[in-house]
Amino acid sequence: MSELWILVGATSSMARAMARMLATRGDALILAGRDMQDMATTAADCELRGAPFARVMAFDARQPDTFQPIIDALDDRIVNAAVFVGSMPDQAEIDADPGLIDGTVIDSFSGPARFLQLLAPEIEARGAGVVVGVGSVAGDRGRVGNYVYGAAKAGFHTYLSGLRNRLTRSGGHVVTVKPGFADTAMTWGIEGMFLVAPPEKVAADILKAVEKKRDVIYTPFFWRYIMLIIRAIPERIFKKMSI
Ligand SMILES: NC(=O)c1ccc[n+]([C@@H]2O[C@H](COP(=O)([O-])OP(=O)(O)OC[C@H]3O[C@@H](n4cnc5c(N)ncnc54)[C@H](OP(=O)(O)O)[C@@H]3O)[C@@H](O)[C@H]2O)c1
Repeated sequence: MSELWILVGATSSMARAMARMLATRGDALILAGRDMQDMATTAADCELRGAPFARVMAFDARQPDTFQPIIDALDDRIVNAAVFVGSMPDQAEIDADPGLIDGTVIDSFSGPARFLQLLAPEIEARGAGVVVGVGSVAGDRGRVGNYVYGAAKAGFHTYLSGLRNRLTRSGGHVVTVKPGFADTAMTWGIEGMFLVAPPEKVAADILKAVEKKRDVIYTPFFWRYIMLIIRAIPERIFKKMSI
């Protein structure tokens, strides 16, 4: 029997690229997110490419009652999940309205974490299954341009590390993915970006990491070295920089 992948935040162009790749190799899919029409188009495409089925289900990080129906839809095949959900309001808007912090943290950390808490026992019961959590290089160090989003992603990274520690005991695995800049809806119109990767590159790197059972990846790979340098800058210098 084929394996099942739940793609959470399936309207992300990274998720869409990954869905197509999974469909081509014959995996079944649940596409979860807010825009049912957009996901229905992706689902139809995936079934044409070879997915035994591609089901569309509602998921809203801010509405936890949307989580359990996805778990209830699982059959006894091995289940994997990749979480792409996240939101990055402009930091200046958050500075003007601190109320925006809550939603950013729910979208980028606590909503996905609550969903994964429901999924974890399913992986444990099957003794197999992979969770991919998409974080960000922004979570590696707080900076003036996006420190609330970065803080939410740092929280998500730490959560994923703990979940990996938990699921490894029962045969599950967790991959933390830290993309650098990618060419998607989230970054549309943002100035000053460099080394921007296509979403297909991120998706291909994720699948390679799953295959190799990697724990934490940067995508593209060179962000590991960029972040090594950025993390090494002493705080007394870093606090005056605008990178
Ligand atoms: N693009 C980059 O340079 C970059 C860099 C590092 C990390 N990332 C991360 O990569 C992931 C994918 O982002 P992307 O670049 O592909 O941008 P995106 O198109 O904006 O994707 C974000 C996804 O999160 C979903 N989402 C946001 N709030 C939600 C909520 N409350 N409930 C359910 N879904 C929600 C969006 O759904 P809707 O379509 O319904 O809004 C969309 O599917 C995100 O976690 C992002 O933080 C991106």
